[in-house]
Amino acid sequence: MSGIALYPGSFDPVTTGHTNIIRRGLQIFDTVIVAVARNISKNALFSIDERMEMIRDAFADQPNVIVESFEGLLVQYARQREVTCILRGLRAVEDFEYEYQMANMNRKLNSDIDTLFLMADPTTFFLSSRLVKEVATLGGDISGVVPENVRVRLLERVANKS
Ligand code: PNS
Repeated sequence: MSGIALYPGSFDPVTTGHTNIIRRGLQIFDTVIVAVARNISKNALFSIDERMEMIRDAFADQPNVIVESFEGLLVQYARQREVTCILRGLRAVEDFEYEYQMANMNRKLNSDIDTLFLMADPTTFFLSSRLVKEVATLGGDISGVVPENVRVRLLERVANKS
């Protein structure tokens, strides 16, 4: 396969679960656009710009990873970027229902756009941004579960918050 995939998410912050999906996406697609959603949570730990910067830093050696942000409906953004494939990672069972609903709603909104799921790697399937933030806040070791640049930023952020 070639072409472009759109990998949307909150990425507050990006984890190695996300970076694993992006790297595997690059083995299928020429380019992966990582799209940080602007309209999700008001109590995020990192601003949209910070999240984008951390993803860009983690893929500084990879010109085929483009980091952007979007507001509003994902399918509208996909159409605007002329991308027809949404890429998502799928972890254990609890992801399925939510992802199934979103993929089908998105396809109902625009039948030209489909979602491709990559199963989470066994080394990352337990990871979520929420859990990583909790562990960092409580002083646990987060090395290996987020890219190194994110680990440093996250530790700084939780230290400043306490
Ligand atoms: O990382 P997340 O929080 O699981 O990502 C969810 C995201 C951003 C992909 C989803 O909430 C989304 O697409 N939001 C944009 C608004 C939208 O299109 N909503 C309808 C989805 S069916």
